[in-house]
Amino acid sequence: MADNPYRPGAAHAPPYLAGREAEQREFSRLLKQTPVLENLVLTGIRGIGKTVLMREALRKDAAENGWLWVGSDISEAASVSENHLVRRLLTDLNTFSADWEYSSSERYPLGFTEVAEHQTIHFDYQTMMTLFKREPGLSSDKIKRILLVAWELMQKHMPDKKGIIFAWDEAQNLADRSEVDQYPLGVLLDVFSSLQSQGVPFMLLLTGLPTLFPKLVDSRTYAERMFRVMTLDNLNYDESREAIAKPLDKVPEQIKNFFNSFSDDIYDLTKGYPYFIQFWCRELYDYLAGTRPDVDEDGAEAEVMERISRKLDMDFFEARWARLTDRQRDLLSIIAQLENSSGEFTVQEIVEGSKRTEQAFSSSHANQMLNSLFAKGLIFKNRHGKYVLAVPLLDQYIRRRITGDDTHKENDHD
Ligand SMILES: Nc1ncnc2c1ncn2[C@@H]1O[C@H](COP(=O)(O)OP(=O)(O)O)[C@@H](O)[C@H]1O
Ligand SMILES: [Mg+2]
Repeated sequence: MADNPYRPGAAHAPPYLAGREAEQREFSRLLKQTPVLENLVLTGIRGIGKTVLMREALRKDAAENGWLWVGSDISEAASVSENHLVRRLLTDLNTFSADWEYSSSERYPLGFTEVAEHQTIHFDYQTMMTLFKREPGLSSDKIKRILLVAWELMQKHMPDKKGIIFAWDEAQNLADRSEVDQYPLGVLLDVFSSLQSQGVPFMLLLTGLPTLFPKLVDSRTYAERMFRVMTLDNLNYDESREAIAKPLDKVPEQIKNFFNSFSDDIYDLTKGYPYFIQFWCRELYDYLAGTRPDVDEDGAEAEVMERISRKLDMDFFEARWARLTDRQRDLLSIIAQLENSSGEFTVQEIVEGSKRTEQAFSSSHANQMLNSLFAKGLIFKNRHGKYVLAVPLLDQYIRRRITGDDTHKENDHD
């Protein structure tokens, strides 16, 4: 049997990228802007497919349309200071600019005196850093001037290129810190809005968790107008079927049929959440490849599904559950038993729900617990002040734990 084509795992390119057409069209539109007025925020919960959409589809589109692309992951460290941000920007730029000739002698006579006259100075990281350190003023002014020079050089050395996309993943890690007087996010927004208003075609594509956009707007209110926000959702039924079936083009008909017979089940179980689709399909494929079960045998299918479901609980949910305190678990259990547990819910609903259990929560206590769950990445607060679970199908998992069954039941604790 051919190698397993499915790829569960952060940033693993899927065998077939399903759906996301609207998002790709929207990005194409942004690529046609002259001058650049709008940048892009691509947001959604973990595992929804932001990174692979950016890397597999948007990057290609940008290249085909004559844009340079620099991509980075924003680690936690990058959020700490403005200097980190500057180094990030210059490192990104360096991937192209290191080949650009920079004649420094007229513009910057000092500081390069040890360099012999005939030597060519390139606009590489070292040169840019030297300039950065010599320029007077605020970080944002200094980095702005360097990017302006970069744009001048780029027009000379790559006249057929339209501009540069700065594609930053996990951008929710960028944060201003007033207590240490560091505003990397503010600097980033100032620099790009100022350059764009001068007609420089450098565009930001920021990807991150749903906390990203509110953070941008908190830093600079004009961020609201600077970004087009696209929120990725689960794949719909047809897209999910494609994500399941398309990778099987090269396998024997019998296996394809087997997968097709499970297709609806997989959609019901995953609700179209891309990471889970890859997970289920990979397990199913391994199971088929390993044991070649007689699929006509009574009960065989149910047993396979049961096994995979248990493995997903082990691999995905148990570790998260283990990190919680008893009170956090109590609160999540109450949420899991709300009728709208998989959608938005309010503090009030949690308080009401808790009255039906032995662990009543006051609203201030519920709020406090929600904040601690937010810090652990299990809950998001959306723009309307309502809450959603940040981990898909966590509510079903919790109901399985409580009752051994993941369907909603009334008074199941009585
Ligand atoms: N459109 C899609 N079709 C099929 N699989 C997808 C799709 N988008 C994402 N995946 C799969 O889902 C998983 C998570 O994708 P990833 O891009 O890492 O999510 P995020 O960056 O939002 O956390 C990966 O295993 C990936 O292969
Ligand atoms: Mg990602």
